[in-house]
Amino acid sequence: MLNRIPSRIPAEMQAPVDANGAIHMRLTAILYGGEGTNLFEFRTLDGRSVPKFTAGAHVDVNLPNGTIRQYSIASSQADRSRYLLGIKLEEQGRGGSRFLYEQVRVGSVLKIGLPRNNFALNENASSSVLIAGGIGITPILCMIDRLQALGRDFRLHYAVRMRTEALLAEIDEGDRRIHLHVDAEQDGRLLDIAAIIAGAPPDAELYCCGPAPMLVAFEAACAGRPSARVHLERFSAPDNVAASDGAYTVELAKSKRTLTVRPGQTLLQALQAAGLNVKVSCEQGICGTCETRVLAGIPDHRDMILSEEEKASNETMMVCCGASLTPTLVLDL
Ligand code: FES
Repeated sequence: MLNRIPSRIPAEMQAPVDANGAIHMRLTAILYGGEGTNLFEFRTLDGRSVPKFTAGAHVDVNLPNGTIRQYSIASSQADRSRYLLGIKLEEQGRGGSRFLYEQVRVGSVLKIGLPRNNFALNENASSSVLIAGGIGITPILCMIDRLQALGRDFRLHYAVRMRTEALLAEIDEGDRRIHLHVDAEQDGRLLDIAAIIAGAPPDAELYCCGPAPMLVAFEAACAGRPSARVHLERFSAPDNVAASDGAYTVELAKSKRTLTVRPGQTLLQALQAAGLNVKVSCEQGICGTCETRVLAGIPDHRDMILSEEEKASNETMMVCCGASLTPTLVLDL
């Protein structure tokens, strides 16, 4: 299981956070996870505790090339000495993992954002079923660690194509609650998510993190389950979700400016064209970096972060992909 290095640092000695909500951290080790995946260990510069996080959380990693990427924390939430981030080298990705693999060395100092959690664990559930595909195991390792610490009932189904890809050092195959499914050892058969969900207790909390087809199968299998018990974490949006239809006006309360968003233009494009320094990362509505308070108007929510209740409340929106359903939208920018 995960290396639980007990923190010898008093919890109150937490690393200072800068004005942008980030701390400077040093990459102290790169550990081999499985084929194509490394575990990047970050610690504070002065040995103080990392900011508190809960199982399922991720952090923004600010790369020296100006991009921001989110990576889930794999290490135990009880271990405040470090963040251990599982990062797969995505050859066809947007370049974040390639930069980390090729340009960042042990000893490098990067700005790491405060942990955020869009994939929170229900610690009080009587049972939990967790399904991970490939690198989707990363947040789930932290969740399993927490469930074990709490003595809660759980089942983990971890699917990989090849055994060599699995983060074998991080799971205990001898634990009957943990099931490793290797496609290549099953004649290429994929994990039967429908059967897993059908066999889960009616009150089980259901979690899935993995590639898009796995999430589609998971959502279909969970169709009859209460939505509050169904949790998933996406790596990417299914499509380009950014709204760009219709014209509307955006009033920026803090900067006391008014912008017009033209048809064919996204809200983010309009904000950036006006010189607004909006913090964005995924630009797909899946990370929460750009969440902005809505002061008036009704947003056209296109993100996959806010719950239906949160969307209906219209208190915040993701400006990277959302738009306005009313002629005017007033934002706290
Ligand atoms: S930048 Fe990720 S949700 Fe907007």
